[in-house]
Amino acid sequence: MLRLFGALVLLGLALACITSWVLDSYNTAWHPKRSVHQPTAGDGAESTGSSPPFPGGELDNIFWFIQVSDIHISRFHDPRRIPDFEKFCTDTIEVIKPALVLVTGDLTDAKTENKVGSLQHEVEWQAYHNILKKSRVMERTRWIDIRGNHDAFNIMSLDSVNNYYRKYSANQKVGSFHYVHKTPFGNYSFVCMDATLTPGPKRPYNFFGILNRTQMDLLDTFRVESLESNQSIWFGHYTTSTVVSPSPGVRDMMRSAVAYVCGHLHTLGGLMPVLHSRHPKGTLELELGDWMDNRRYRVLAFDHDLLSFSDLSFEKWPAVLITNPKNAQYLHPGVEPLARIRRSTHIRILAFSEALITAVHVSIDGEPHGKGRSAGGPLYVLLWDPSLYLTGLHTIRVKVEDSAGRSTVREQHFTLEDSLTPSFGFVQSFILLTDHYILSRVAFVFMMLLNVGVLLACRFLRVPSGRGLTSQACVSLHLVSKMDAFFYSLLFFNLCTAVGPWFIGELIDGHSGACFAFGVFIDGHFLEGSLTYVVGVVQLLFFNMPLTAYLCWSLHQRWRGMTFRSHFLRPGCRWRTLGLHIFMLLLLTWQAHSCYFLLQTYGHVAFFLSPVRTWALVLSLLLVYRAWTSPAPLIHDNGKRVSPS
Ligand SMILES: *[C@@H]1O[C@H](CO)[C@@H](O)[C@H](O)[C@H]1NC(C)=O
Ligand SMILES: *[C@@H]1O[C@H](CO)[C@@H](O)[C@H](O)[C@H]1NC(C)=O
Ligand SMILES: *[C@@H]1O[C@H](CO)[C@@H](O)[C@H](O)[C@H]1NC(C)=O
Repeated sequence: MLRLFGALVLLGLALACITSWVLDSYNTAWHPKRSVHQPTAGDGAESTGSSPPFPGGELDNIFWFIQVSDIHISRFHDPRRIPDFEKFCTDTIEVIKPALVLVTGDLTDAKTENKVGSLQHEVEWQAYHNILKKSRVMERTRWIDIRGNHDAFNIMSLDSVNNYYRKYSANQKVGSFHYVHKTPFGNYSFVCMDATLTPGPKRPYNFFGILNRTQMDLLDTFRVESLESNQSIWFGHYTTSTVVSPSPGVRDMMRSAVAYVCGHLHTLGGLMPVLHSRHPKGTLELELGDWMDNRRYRVLAFDHDLLSFSDLSFEKWPAVLITNPKNAQYLHPGVEPLARIRRSTHIRILAFSEALITAVHVSIDGEPHGKGRSAGGPLYVLLWDPSLYLTGLHTIRVKVEDSAGRSTVREQHFTLEDSLTPSFGFVQSFILLTDHYILSRVAFVFMMLLNVGVLLACRFLRVPSGRGLTSQACVSLHLVSKMDAFFYSLLFFNLCTAVGPWFIGELIDGHSGACFAFGVFIDGHFLEGSLTYVVGVVQLLFFNMPLTAYLCWSLHQRWRGMTFRSHFLRPGCRWRTLGLHIFMLLLLTWQAHSCYFLLQTYGHVAFFLSPVRTWALVLSLLLVYRAWTSPAPLIHDNGKRVSPS
């Protein structure tokens, strides 16, 4: 699923280049570097930055917390996932002692054994609950676990008995909320953006989240409240690119936050190991890889109101996080008091390990700088003189050793110039900052108009004369359009894909609904289309259009007097002919697979009541059969017969 999504995203890259100018949000999204200089909420950071407190040699004005995402506790797969997570809750949390832990969704896997169907398994939730109970992690830290799309599969309403999140999670709170972490040195806002669907259909039409106007208004009140805090972080399950929301959209909503942390994409099954980017208004978007397969987690710290983080792997000790000077890639001049780095007296490093930390070596720009001393807790500090590094980009390298003989090296760039922030990769920004549902909607409408338009035009226009390949292709299109059986079948099929129901069935167990390109209806509720457009584009690209092309070619052969037997025997063309038939066979197989997928995901009713899947398969078989068996077609133009000469 995610790999497919990844492949589609890359395909979309090409399409995006064409459509980008349509969507103004892209202009800024694709030039994150330029946009950093725009003033945002929290103006005046520059002036607060030049006022104390400044990072020094004490364990003060700092706290750290953890994010972990996409745990996917499963009754069928990877039995290590559960004990490993328990070990994380006991040992890792004990070593790091975070102020809080954000678990950003997909606590359970909620799939059938073949990974295609979906439903809530109480045992998976009980396993999760038992881990929390046995590890007593909730007594040792503030544990905030929110829902992901998997936790909302097959749930009609929040009161449903199978909404086990209500019973077994730590948070038990659905919907967005605002949590303020209070410390003696400042208040820090954590705003949860809950875009999970209600009702929650079974997969796959549960891939995008939706926020309606009411939910956006609630988020806006949190945004205003959070302006009181020293800093705010937003968190949620979905990337902002996979949330459907009324304009001006979720990225605009979180403009005063320093960062938005999320999960959901699992680094696209490994295709994109790092998925970080920056919104047009400067907020960082930091996707975290999954616990499920990669055992990832993230340590974040606010040190003198500067945010730093490090993406880590389970049981890879020592874990290292350099909090001053902060990584140049992730500066947010709009809301962070960056001038404090220039006025700091010490380099500050958080180092965690199960064993005793024995040494913290620091070098800058390749020159050894000295050894850090412990300032209490996991903080190590070392005197430095920032005035030596006022211009340009520099490199700090830290090597931490522990008594078990392990060591970790962490290297990052830093700069004391606000304007020198390196920008993020184009592909990362495209994946995180594009509203994929808008892009695929544009692509779907465009391709549909093209498809139907060509059919209609050829039906009513004159047959071209000429011998070239193009005019022959046109003739073949005219053959398809001017033969009623083919024209009406294809027109009906395409219109069904565009506006008709794709299938009708139990989108949630016990609740029927219908799926259209523009959205999904379940028991009187409507969920706006998102993944449906992506699936629609794939359907057009890999079935509707090639089917039309194949029928054109077949009828053209027939028109020239060939039969199924004779066209094979023509010298010179045998391989090409065979290739085309195999191509069609592959398409039919793919469509058959889609039908099977439908059967597995939404059941028998959906399988039988599916114009765009099962019926289309039958229809296309009939059309192909008919193309090769009916009498050779004739076409007329102004009453005159056009013949293949
Ligand atoms: C947090 O904000 C308060 C009030 O503006 C300020 O006094 C305090 O120094 C800030 N804390 C830090 C760590 O900057
Ligand atoms: C944190 O918020 C409380 C009110 O909830 C306020 O009394 C306190 O002064 C705030 N602390 C800082 C450092 O801003
Ligand atoms: C918005 O969504 C919430 C939660 O799903 C729901 O309770 C509410 O009725 C919706 N509001 C509107 C106006 O659709």
